[in-house]
Amino acid sequence: MINRPRIFTLDDAPQAVLNQHGFAGQDILSVNQFTPDSLAYIFDVAEEMRAMVERKGGDDLLRGRVLTCLFYEPSTRTSSSFIAAMERLGGSVIPITQGVQFSSVSKGETLHDTIRTLEQYSDVIVLRHPETGSARIAAAAAEIPVINAGDGTGEHPTQALLDLFTIKEELGRLDGIHVAMVGDLRYGRTVHSLTQLLLNYDVRFSFVSPEILRLPLDYMNQVRDAGKEVRETYNVADIIESADVLYVTRVQKERFTDLSQYEQVKDFYRITPELMERAKATAVIMHPLPRVSEIDVRVDSDPRAAYFRQVKNGMYIRMALLAAVLGKA
Ligand code: NCD
Repeated sequence: MINRPRIFTLDDAPQAVLNQHGFAGQDILSVNQFTPDSLAYIFDVAEEMRAMVERKGGDDLLRGRVLTCLFYEPSTRTSSSFIAAMERLGGSVIPITQGVQFSSVSKGETLHDTIRTLEQYSDVIVLRHPETGSARIAAAAAEIPVINAGDGTGEHPTQALLDLFTIKEELGRLDGIHVAMVGDLRYGRTVHSLTQLLLNYDVRFSFVSPEILRLPLDYMNQVRDAGKEVRETYNVADIIESADVLYVTRVQKERFTDLSQYEQVKDFYRITPELMERAKATAVIMHPLPRVSEIDVRVDSDPRAAYFRQVKNGMYIRMALLAAVLGKA
């Protein structure tokens, strides 16, 4: 954990609501900045990016632009998809993704100073950090756009966008669906962000977790306040037959203060081919990845397993977001 004096407080950092023509120069910190219109817009641009990549691999829309990827926590997909997105659009990347032990952070530099430095070289910063609220602090320090790539147990807005895009691609709709979130709903920031985004649509929710990993109350209250039908259970059998989306997550070992608690719940769920026999033929199985043991590898050959298609969608969504904040979409 980075534990340094804070120069900016959370209240210093306003979060702009993004509208279709208002992305240029903006930070992307929270899913709450998006409206159904701006989501539809980003999805349209992501579709164009997909068509372009399939046709010619890439282009030079962002030539001469530089992205800094600053990751204080491990990452495979988020960092590499941002790098791939920038490079397929002709831009370049300063990758600080191999652990900040190789940067001046290990000498005691504050997040504020690191951000103020990196913005001198780049046009946009993607930040992953273990502290909730850190992306907003970075955004307050920086004049260039900051994109939140996961802040502790807080949010992971670009993951939620790619998750929502995947649901739309796989099911062909976002309304009138039953979404079951399964696993670590307490610490899983992807669940927190996706749940909030789905409130924009006619969605019925099931939250499936062991007692100690239930969805935090503020998120649950948001779901209830939005008037959504919601069910909480620890038993995946309760929802398997009616779920349109099974959004399965890893138990977030690194967030536990008491590892004996982790040991109690780490193998609570396992999605198997036998279980999937009871699911809808049209169901979609998603996972933000990395997977540990919660989805049996034999499920990978089930056509309903969408998690690797979901990975690819991440690159198209991040291409769209980079183009949008850099004023090129
Ligand atoms: C997730 C994350 O970092 O929050 N991974 C990702 O970005 N795809 C999920 C996880 O670590 O379990």
